Amino acid sequence: CGIVGVTGVGDALPYLLQGLQKLEYRGYDSAGVYLSDDSGKDALIKEKGRVSKLAEKAIAETKGFKGTAGIAHTRWATHGNVTVENAHPQKSADNRFFLVHNGVIENYKELTDTYLQGVHFVSETDTEVAVQLVDKFSKDGMSTPDAFRKMISLLDGNSAYGFLLVDHEDPETLYVAKKKSPLLVGVSDHGNAVTSDAAAMIDLTKNFIELRDGDMAIVKPKSVTIYDAAGEEVNREPFTLEIDPEDTDKGAYPYYMLKEIDEQAVVARNISGHYYDDEGNLQGIDPEITDAIKKADRLYIVAAGTSYHAGLIGKRYFEQWAKIPTEVHIASEFAYDQPMLSEKPFFIFLSQSGETADSREVLDNVKKQGFPALTLANVMNSTLTREADFALPVLAGPEIAVASTKAYTAQVLVQAILASALGNPGFDLKAELAKVAVEIQAITDEKESFKKIAESALKDQHSAFYIGRGLDAAVALEAALKLKEISYIQTEGFAAGELKHGTISLIEDGTPVFALLTQKKTAGLLRGEVAQVAARGANTIVFASESLAKDGDAYVLPEVNELLMPLLAVIPAQLIAYYATLDRGLDVDRPRNLAKSVTVQ
Ligand code: G6P
Repeated sequence: CGIVGVTGVGDALPYLLQGLQKLEYRGYDSAGVYLSDDSGKDALIKEKGRVSKLAEKAIAETKGFKGTAGIAHTRWATHGNVTVENAHPQKSADNRFFLVHNGVIENYKELTDTYLQGVHFVSETDTEVAVQLVDKFSKDGMSTPDAFRKMISLLDGNSAYGFLLVDHEDPETLYVAKKKSPLLVGVSDHGNAVTSDAAAMIDLTKNFIELRDGDMAIVKPKSVTIYDAAGEEVNREPFTLEIDPEDTDKGAYPYYMLKEIDEQAVVARNISGHYYDDEGNLQGIDPEITDAIKKADRLYIVAAGTSYHAGLIGKRYFEQWAKIPTEVHIASEFAYDQPMLSEKPFFIFLSQSGETADSREVLDNVKKQGFPALTLANVMNSTLTREADFALPVLAGPEIAVASTKAYTAQVLVQAILASALGNPGFDLKAELAKVAVEIQAITDEKESFKKIAESALKDQHSAFYIGRGLDAAVALEAALKLKEISYIQTEGFAAGELKHGTISLIEDGTPVFALLTQKKTAGLLRGEVAQVAARGANTIVFASESLAKDGDAYVLPEVNELLMPLLAVIPAQLIAYYATLDRGLDVDRPRNLAKSVTVQ
């Protein structure tokens, strides 16, 4: 979900709608906005579906009225179906309080039973419980800040929240609180803002104050007051966001995903430029980080989704070059089922957004146990970068499409560079990375080939496979995720040798099986597996690196060092996912049910 709010800006609606549009990637089954001016006039508009629909409705319904303050929200359903009633802002029964919320209130039922007997609820959301509670405490005689604080104090200790509240009786004051869910206060001379992602408010300001867990803030047109978890007033300096508004625009591209796929060559060059000086020496990695890692007897990479897949590749670099045993874990599993750890573990968190709640939970646990942690994130200044002992930037630039592409390659690249700082790859990594950038460019220049493959192999198919061995098995997982998450073709990524132990029974006449073949040691075996599925009717599509390619392969991948081949092998899969989705007439950037950054567990 995404939150924005502004006050004292003159005309709030355009800021809120633009902000919502920029937040849409976080989750977007419905959206809503509440506006008010200082004379007491107000409007609440909510709509299912895309922000553009809300925008049309809001502009039509607020003709002749300019709200000077307001709050808005894009919702990704957690409690209650996707309906207009369940969209935020939620309001109290007498239309006094309006609230938007990210997170989950775990004890909302108990709170309802204890405090809100007899209150009529319009929605099925836990958020409505929160706003009705504020109303109740206010009716009991509390001031609005006290009622807000009291509501928060009653939430279950595990609850994660980002709240933004408006009281219609003092409509230019925004009440803010956060725990485990990102929220920033944007400050400027012409009004202040609250947002869950700084990028959503860059049209207003580049200066932001980070709120910490347990903070409450009161944001007025010309002032911001922050209280910490203990209720003490605190002073927090704003930071300036280094972001070029252009970076978050699609430019001439029809979809962000295609733009981001194309940017990968440039991203590879930028990463090299950042981590190597002109003489080819490594820079930008604080020796404190490498020293701390060298003290460890085992690395634990923790991540979710695509970042987890990037970790599976990184493991190879840390083990082979740095000679440190490395395990890769899914954050949501590790959080509640911590495996037996080595004596001196070191944790590496991989995250595009730096906000994933599952990873945050692990980081919290690990910190409590006193273990050192490093975050590799694309969004610096994010929760995971702030809270780990160390952080390194992944430098992919803003990634907007829900399906992650350039952040994956960037994470693989940065892990390779970090591993090379800890040991010796045995070849000139910098020179090889320059080659990687050139070859990524070469592959992305051949879009037409992948468009054709996608259209012919996947037309009318309801399932597909990606297979490979070794590093290619790890890439197969990411390749399959790309295809399934946006085209809705059920796709499995598989270690090729394991297929025969059960899953091969799913192969039917014409089932597309994409084989990734870049690892010499297992190339012969993989050819055998391709033949096995072909003999059972599969339509096999082989992507092989140059020295391993054979006649009949669908595409020959340019060759770089074998350990870096994942950086090339994933690109055709990204493009195939893109074109298969386009071919089905689906929205590439905004697949159903998904959110770019999942800030709930
Ligand atoms: C969400 C996104 C995925 C992403 C995962 C982890 O599910 O849809 O694309 O890989 O979160 O996100 P992170 O920001 O931690 O890399």
